[in-house]
Amino acid sequence: VSSALSYPILCAPGAFAQVAQIVGDQAPAHRIVVISDEAVAAHYGAALMAQLAAAFPSKAATLLTIPPGEQEKTRARWGELTDRLLAWGAGRDTTIIALGGGVIGDLAGFVAATFMRGVPVVQVPTTLLAMVDASVGGKTAVDTPMGKNLVGAFHDPAAVVMDPALLGTLSLSHFRTGLAEMLKHGIIADSAYLDAMLAALPSLLADRGRAQALPALIEGSVRIKSAVVAEDHREGGRRQILNFGHTIGHAIEKLRHYAMLHGDAVAIGMVAESRIAEALGVAAPGLTTVVRAAVEAAGLPSGIPADLAVDAIVAETVGDKKARAGTAHFALPNAVGSMDEAGGRWSLPVSIESLGRILSES
Ligand SMILES: NC(=O)c1ccc[n+]([C@@H]2O[C@H](COP(=O)([O-])OP(=O)(O)OC[C@H]3O[C@@H](n4cnc5c(N)ncnc54)[C@H](O)[C@@H]3O)[C@@H](O)[C@H]2O)c1
Ligand SMILES: [Zn+2]
Repeated sequence: VSSALSYPILCAPGAFAQVAQIVGDQAPAHRIVVISDEAVAAHYGAALMAQLAAAFPSKAATLLTIPPGEQEKTRARWGELTDRLLAWGAGRDTTIIALGGGVIGDLAGFVAATFMRGVPVVQVPTTLLAMVDASVGGKTAVDTPMGKNLVGAFHDPAAVVMDPALLGTLSLSHFRTGLAEMLKHGIIADSAYLDAMLAALPSLLADRGRAQALPALIEGSVRIKSAVVAEDHREGGRRQILNFGHTIGHAIEKLRHYAMLHGDAVAIGMVAESRIAEALGVAAPGLTTVVRAAVEAAGLPSGIPADLAVDAIVAETVGDKKARAGTAHFALPNAVGSMDEAGGRWSLPVSIESLGRILSES
């Protein structure tokens, strides 16, 4: 992928077979530690270890796994993995390979960011979300009881290797979560990309990892995200446009105690935030219709669940449990492919009253 970022991003069916070679080129080290979750390792762990053993017969390599799931993205797992690295004898001259979805990418990335004050990490994303979103941009983190991603570091990977063929074993619901972020990329930055996604959706849903159009569409998403990130690495300004759909989406995820899939929450959030953009006159009428049709074509939900009170969503959005005061900030589109600059701030304050009124109208 030709991206605006400083590290190579490879995306092609069969790229998985080149991981060892890319590690040798981009992050040579005496010791190689693969960090994965048990579910991903069951599919791809042995193949990667065999590949590393064949490519580097004189180097030590090991596979460390943790149970799958967001609940494992903790400081406790970070500490445990760090201790296991030390016990195994890993030192400064170690490269970490993150083999898994966004949970492993964030956690192994944070281990790499902090181990010996930082060792190289090669990201090998195995979910669609991790390919089009989590593995691009250098953010690493763990969750805390107070919230998600509250402790972390910026740590760019030495390389990212994406093989769409690995998505053949991913569940449809997790595949859809990736589709939600890909639709988001089209809506915030590139209407032609959104059109290409819409045209490909039937085959993407039917063939998933084997869909012909998938590698190019992953590349398109990576290009959009990496261009935004390259411009604003530490999220002072334009990087906020990547939060489209996520302000409302995060509020819903929290109210659902993270039992709802991220892509579902983001899909609902993108439709709700399109309505906000129209109601405030930021976007011309019609945006919501397009966004709703797109998420529904991907089989994603578009409406706020009937049993979630608008007041609760508003309160969660402004971070005020009593919802008496405050404003929420939204990155909003002017139209498909174009985000509102909001006087250079890229996000617009919306009062609690307006938010409640807009979200209550149906
Ligand atoms: N760093 C960033 O910029 C960034 C961006 C977006 C999301 N994230 C993070 O990403 C995480 C979510 O990532 P995710 O959706 O990939 O979840 P995940 O890593 O939990 O993976 C989802 C599930 O799919 C399984 N799985 C993964 N790949 C598989 C495959 N190829 N075949 C079969 N099963 C497979 C996993 O075991 C897991 O059960 C969140 O923690 C989020 O905060 C980070
Ligand atoms: Zn997201």
